[in-house]
Amino acid sequence: MTHPVRLPELAHVTVVPTQPLIGAEISGIDLACASDAELDLVHKALLRYKVIFFRDQVLSRAQHVALGRHFGALEVHPLSAHPDHPELLVLESFGGTTEGPKAPAADFWHSDTTFRATPSAASILMGYHIPPLGGDTLWCNTAAVYAGLDEALKERIETLEAVHSGLVSFGRHLDTEEKRAAFLERHPPQVHPVVSIHPETGERILNVNSGFTTHILGVSDAESQALLTRLFDEVKRPEYHVRFRWQPRSIAFWDNRSTQHYGVADYAGRRHLERVTIIGERPVGPAGKA
Ligand code: SIN
Repeated sequence: MTHPVRLPELAHVTVVPTQPLIGAEISGIDLACASDAELDLVHKALLRYKVIFFRDQVLSRAQHVALGRHFGALEVHPLSAHPDHPELLVLESFGGTTEGPKAPAADFWHSDTTFRATPSAASILMGYHIPPLGGDTLWCNTAAVYAGLDEALKERIETLEAVHSGLVSFGRHLDTEEKRAAFLERHPPQVHPVVSIHPETGERILNVNSGFTTHILGVSDAESQALLTRLFDEVKRPEYHVRFRWQPRSIAFWDNRSTQHYGVADYAGRRHLERVTIIGERPVGPAGKA
């Protein structure tokens, strides 16, 4: 895990791991005009390090969308789409003030869109305007979280399924009963396995998150709550994390199937980032059940 990816034919590219269990920074690739070989390396590094970082990238919005499309079909997020590029999710907010637009807050551990039948496979987030202090993002390696669970807990959750609803986190942006009902009609809660198998690496992954998971099916409410509290606490362990300090034109590209992330809401002033998100597959559990 800690050895940099090196390909002799791409000697100009360096991939430097950021933390022992997650994250790497890649330099030597211009994402606006990357070759197929470079994008193949990016894909391999994504699977291996789970979140990869780039600095000083100059991409137009159309190039950002095109980069995302190279890796798969893009989703349109239910909140805050860009007027000219609907696949771009605009995350703009003003911390420490009541002025200005509010972004969908991301200051909770989550995987993107697990309230969908086919949650996101990966996201590419680009920094535009970054506050002078704060506003970092953290990612957690949820394959490592699963691997670190004790055997009894692994066995207990092996075949369990959980319900995921967008209202857990987005309810606060939907201020009337009508808006909440309309959201639920378009995005009804979904059932996913608590442990999923990564479709490309075969790793086992903890597949519940505090942003969208409401409860575990087939157990008492008390056990569901106790299990979720215990699993969510594991996700908070810093050993599984990497923390990224944004700059304008930085890019973070994460594998949403094997990570969760948390946008730290500690800043004052404007923070503006934009994201494209690649549609994933329906998560499959260890027994092969979708
Ligand atoms: C996100 O959840 O995609 C945004 C993370 C952030 O705002 O740092």
